[in-house]
Amino acid sequence: MSEQDMSEITLPFCQIDDEGRMWRRPEESEWCEVRNSEIHGSGIFAAKDIPVGTPIMEYVGEVIGKEESDRRGLDRMEHANKTGDAAVYIFIINDDFDIDGSYEWNIARLINHSCSPNCESAIDEDDRIWLSAAEYIPKGAELSFDYGFDLENYLDHPCRCGTDNCIGYIVGRDYWKGLKKLEKKRLAKVVGKAKKKDKGKKKRKSGKK
Ligand SMILES: C[S@@+](CC[C@H](N)C(=O)[O-])C[C@H]1O[C@@H](n2cnc3c(N)ncnc32)[C@H](O)[C@@H]1O
Ligand SMILES: [Zn+2]
Repeated sequence: MSEQDMSEITLPFCQIDDEGRMWRRPEESEWCEVRNSEIHGSGIFAAKDIPVGTPIMEYVGEVIGKEESDRRGLDRMEHANKTGDAAVYIFIINDDFDIDGSYEWNIARLINHSCSPNCESAIDEDDRIWLSAAEYIPKGAELSFDYGFDLENYLDHPCRCGTDNCIGYIVGRDYWKGLKKLEKKRLAKVVGKAKKKDKGKKKRKSGKK
């Protein structure tokens, strides 16, 4: 569908501005608050006990068509590859629309990654994206979810989630098997190089050639 045809379609719970841009705006959530995080920078924390399955906060931002989304996604990936900044805040809504949540007022963008996440994203019948509780979350706990990153440039994204399960890098659970293989190879190379260096040192000490 062309971008022009897209302008004929609207989604529920959207506001359209004077330029015809479609927005989903935030509502305050009773369940969470922003605080400093031990994982990284700012994070989102449970303001009270949260039962499993609770929609905690909506992922809001500008609702855009797929062509615009591809354009923005590519731009930001290029920027991310240059700077190491992994932030691309675009979520898929449905076959026609994505949502760009890269706005300060989209508090949901502050949720940190964890290898043992307590939240997941869920899309409701109105195509709204929610971060919802994947388990019972006690008051004060930091909310987290699986960023689902693939293995590209994984070394640039060390994980500091601090859970017993931590795989060491911000990589989605679906890629852990591949990650373990890559890490095994990488570490074998590192150990091989260190051994070679050590052997060289010993030879020099004993005067052998
Ligand atoms: C969407 S922001 C999350 C909010 C972030 N804490 C902040 O203050 O802006 C994503 C960035 O947070 C950091 N981050 C999130 N989860 C992390 C984790 N488990 N370990 C290390 N850094 C993490 C990474 O720098 C990542 O690129
Ligand atoms: Zn981790």
